[in-house]
This record gives sequence, structure tokens and C-alpha cells, in this order.
Amino acid sequence: MAGRILLIPDGPASLLYATELVEKLRQKRYSVQVAPTAYDGPSATAFVSELAWATLSGHPCRPIEALDEAAFREQDLILLGPVSPRVFSIFCQGKALSYLQAAGRPVLALLPQLCQGEPAPALEGGTFSQLMPPGSSLLAGGVPHSLGALGSLLLPPLEEVLSQVDCLLSSRDYAGKKVLITAGPTAEDLDPVRFLTNRSTGKMGFALARDAALRGAQVLLVHGPVALTVPRLPNLTAISVRSATQMHQAVMDHWQEQDLAILAAAVADFQPLHCAETKIKKGEAQELSLPLKRTPDILATLGALPRRPFLVGFAAESDDVEANAQLKLRKKHCDLLCANDVRQPGCGFAVDTNQVTILAPDAPPLALPLKSKDEVAHAILSEILRRIPNS
Ligand code: PMT
Repeated sequence: MAGRILLIPDGPASLLYATELVEKLRQKRYSVQVAPTAYDGPSATAFVSELAWATLSGHPCRPIEALDEAAFREQDLILLGPVSPRVFSIFCQGKALSYLQAAGRPVLALLPQLCQGEPAPALEGGTFSQLMPPGSSLLAGGVPHSLGALGSLLLPPLEEVLSQVDCLLSSRDYAGKKVLITAGPTAEDLDPVRFLTNRSTGKMGFALARDAALRGAQVLLVHGPVALTVPRLPNLTAISVRSATQMHQAVMDHWQEQDLAILAAAVADFQPLHCAETKIKKGEAQELSLPLKRTPDILATLGALPRRPFLVGFAAESDDVEANAQLKLRKKHCDLLCANDVRQPGCGFAVDTNQVTILAPDAPPLALPLKSKDEVAHAILSEILRRIPNS
């Protein structure tokens, strides 16, 4: 992610919160400049020195009072906070407000909440979103964050702040599109305690869902049993299912509203013929055979529909990768298919990286480089956008 952020931390929340925020923003490759508050009272530099901010951010640190309108204009986003209600009010009036308005960059303000349910401070001249440039928003309160010996403050969770930043700085090239994504494994119950499943963690599908939502799509994520948290984004809805049959049903209930369906789930191909009502006893048996039956093939079902969303499948292959994936592309009538060779280190199930080759019926294969699943998801979505009709 690229983007220039001006962070304006204030008071004791600079410590152990804003410093961590700088580190996490830089991990996401944002360029961060810090302009700590230097007003009377407990300013940010009273807790973290200018030299420490400069070292952490990799950019010279100047106190906020030294900045002019041009310094705001150089940024893509102004991250104000966490700020005390007093400093928040200073920013929403006078010289600071006129600079922010003239620069026109969105402002994301982070406010500590001293008491549960305490409203944001009242402002003169209008509400925060009326006063600030378009796209600005406010995050208040949240979870207790320890400030060591200084006690604790209720602050917006860092993950939520990072999601909002990504949202504000992402290109909105998927705005207006409805996208259904399947992710994770399915679990096929044998009896009340046992089930058949696979090694999928949902990371690839969740990365696709998050990136599509950040780029403005209305996303429906249908996922099997995973240990991941569904990204908290207003335009992302999730349906949690367990078995292939349930995933098939959820997709069938919703495919008609979609412009695009990306099926990244590792769906079981077979399920037990019967699920025993009570735990299967081992008795004296040395062997056990389980009769299995085919599950519905969600991708093939969508592919066979006369009018359907743009359809992107995945293929997890361990041998003859391209030949087998080409076969799936045609047999299941996909518009695109992402093949991953699950024997390669860093590819496929459970790991944080992946390498996929995108196949299309009418174009040569496109091998993407081995990258983090977030980056691979971004590249796949960009490639889809190039090929989807009316985009
Ligand atoms: O979840 P992770 O740990 O991040 O791992 C990512 C992944 C390896 C699961 C992902 O990158 C991937 O390859 N997903 C597809 C896995 C798979 O089951 O592939 P397949 O070749 O068996 O299936 C081909 C396609 O048909 C897939 O789009 C699959 O979703 C779909 N399918 C399969 C069976 C079935 N009954 N219904 C289906 O829709």
C-alpha cells in the first residue's frame, strides 16, 4: 500500500499506542511523518522525544505548530490522534481548521473515551464531518489500552485504525461491484465428534475479500470453519457455514445479486453417506470403511448457469499443475482460474504467501510472483478488473 500519512499524536496516548501505530503503518509500507502536538499541557513530545519520533518514522519530526498549509497538502491522509478533547477542539477551529480545509486531505481523528458512552466533544460551527474535508471520519473509544504507570485509556483498536487507513487510501476501482467470495475448508461430519476436512485456513479467500472491500466492492464472504476474524469493514458481510452442502446453499441463495464470484474455498469433494447420530464405536474392529458420496460442486454449478457472475475458480494441484488446472478451467466453465502448486514451498494451504498462475480460456497463462497472500489477492483482483466486461 502506498500513501503519505501525517500523524499528529498528543499527550500520554503517544506512548505505547501512537508509537506502535507508526510501526504498523510502516510495516504496511505507508510513508509516515509525525508532527507531535506541542501545546501547553501534556504534549506528545513530553512523552516521546522528537528524535525518537524521527527515528521511528524515518522522517524528520516537526511539532504541529511549525507546519503550514503546504505541509498538510503534501499528505494523502491526516491522522489526528489519539488527541485529548481539548486538542481535538483546537484542530476543529481557527488556523488549524483553515489549513486542513485548504489542503483538502481527509482527516481520520482518533479520540480516547474516558468514560464508556461519552460523546465526542461539541464543536463550534458544525459537526466534525461538516467542518473537515470530504472523506474525513472519527473513531472514538474502544478497548482499554494500558499506558503503564499512567493507567489506561479507552482507545480505538489498532487493527480498526489500520483498516480505516487502508480504506481511506485504497483506490476505489471496485466501487459499485458486488463480489461473492468463498474461503476456507468445509467440515463433513461423520458422527457428533468426528469430521473430514482439509488444511485450508481461509487466508487466501479472506485476503481477497478484504482487498475487494477496501477497493469499494460490496463483498459477501461465505466461509467454512476458520480461526480468522472477519475483517470489520462496512461493505463486507460474512456467512459462516460448516459443510460443502451448506456452502453450496449459501452461494445458491446469493449468486444472482453478484457481478463476480471467486471460489477460493477448499470444498470437500466427498461427504459421509450418513452422519451417525451417536459416536461411532470402535468395538473390536481392526479396519473401518466409510462409504462416501459426492458433494455438490459449487463452481461447476455456477459455471453451468446460462446467466451468471464473472466466475473465477481456484485449483490446488500437486502434479501436472497446468494441465490439470486447464482441464478444470474448461470443465467448470470458469472465466479465470488461479492455479497453485501446493507442493511448492510458500504456496497453497496455511502459509502466509502464495504463487498462482492465472489461466483464461482465451489468453496465455499469467504466472504471478510468490508474494504475501494480501499482495497476491490484490494482483488477482487487478487482473480480474482488466478482463471483466463493463469495468
Ligand atoms: O485457505 P488457505 O490456507 O489460505 O489456502 C488457500 C487455498 C490453497 C485453499 C487456495 O489457494 C485454493 O487453491 N483453493 C481451492 C482449493 C481446492 O479445493 O481446489 P480444487 O482443485 O479441489 O477445486 C477446484 C475449484 O472448485 C475451487 O475453486 C473450489 O472452490 C471449487 N469446488 C471444489 C469442489 C466442490 N465441491 N465445489 C467447489 O466449488
